[in-house]
Amino acid sequence: MNRPLCVLTGATGGIGQAVALKLIQHGWRLLLVGRQQAQLEALQLKCGQDCEIFIGDLTSAQTRQKLLEHAKSLGGATMLINNAGINVMQGFSEMTEQQIDDLLIVNLSVPIKLCQLFLPQILANKGSIVNMGSSFGSIGYPYQTLYCASKFGLRGMTEALARELSHCDVKILYLAPRATDTNINSVQVRAMNKALGNTMDPPDKVADALISLLKSGNSRSYIGFPERLFVKLNGAFPSLVDNAIAKQLPKIKSFFADKIDQGE
Ligand SMILES: NC(=O)c1ccc[n+]([C@@H]2O[C@H](COP(=O)([O-])OP(=O)(O)OC[C@H]3O[C@@H](n4cnc5c(N)ncnc54)[C@H](OP(=O)(O)O)[C@@H]3O)[C@@H](O)[C@H]2O)c1
Repeated sequence: MNRPLCVLTGATGGIGQAVALKLIQHGWRLLLVGRQQAQLEALQLKCGQDCEIFIGDLTSAQTRQKLLEHAKSLGGATMLINNAGINVMQGFSEMTEQQIDDLLIVNLSVPIKLCQLFLPQILANKGSIVNMGSSFGSIGYPYQTLYCASKFGLRGMTEALARELSHCDVKILYLAPRATDTNINSVQVRAMNKALGNTMDPPDKVADALISLLKSGNSRSYIGFPERLFVKLNGAFPSLVDNAIAKQLPKIKSFFADKIDQGE
């Protein structure tokens, strides 16, 4: 019998590669999605024969449709993992219109549209959709305004869809990593995390958390302490977190000088 098929976006990234290798060990067939052919082919070699690749930019509707058809030709997806994402950490005043659009499109609009496109396949196979969120999908953080907007949106959409489909044989899941050691984090972000004493997880930890989430019967999982506690605190007592982050602000600002500070 064929192994169930997982469509994994962002497969060429740090978390995507770790997740792909973990899913192969756990009996999945993979359709790996990314824009970089060489990286996808290298990962395909590591994953072995139960693995196909799909090269394309997911911001294109035509590409998303082709991905759907490719998955259909493989028998249909049992799991979709919306993992592709981007980030730009900088002052709100510095964000260009293009950056604002890109963050909202890649991190929010694309996963929403993929959820909608793939839902019939996932429902037919009684499968799962996993949306890759972030601690910053629950905690507003300085110099991450648009990333937070996109991940808060993704968390809200995931929760609403899970509730809308709670009577169906399908799981709609949300996984929220904290800082993780991948290329999404610039040199400045790494230096800031070090200065603030923030732990950066290895991508393997996210892959393990995904497997645990799939086995758990839970709908959402937040990785790491104290981030998990801050998520709860921010929900119940946001002013406590306002104060804690206000104390960190001078240190954060030292990595991201902006127009506001320069009086422009
Ligand atoms: N690393 C962290 O600190 C952290 C923390 C919390 C949440 N996350 C989330 O985890 C997910 C994976 O991030 P990562 O850390 O693995 O980042 P990464 O190493 O930079 O990987 C990002 C992935 O997204 C893909 N991607 C970006 N734009 C795309 C587009 N237009 N079309 C198709 N694919 C696109 C990239 O593909 P190509 O390179 O092939 O274009 C790459 O595979 C993201 O959703 C991120 O927000 C990361």
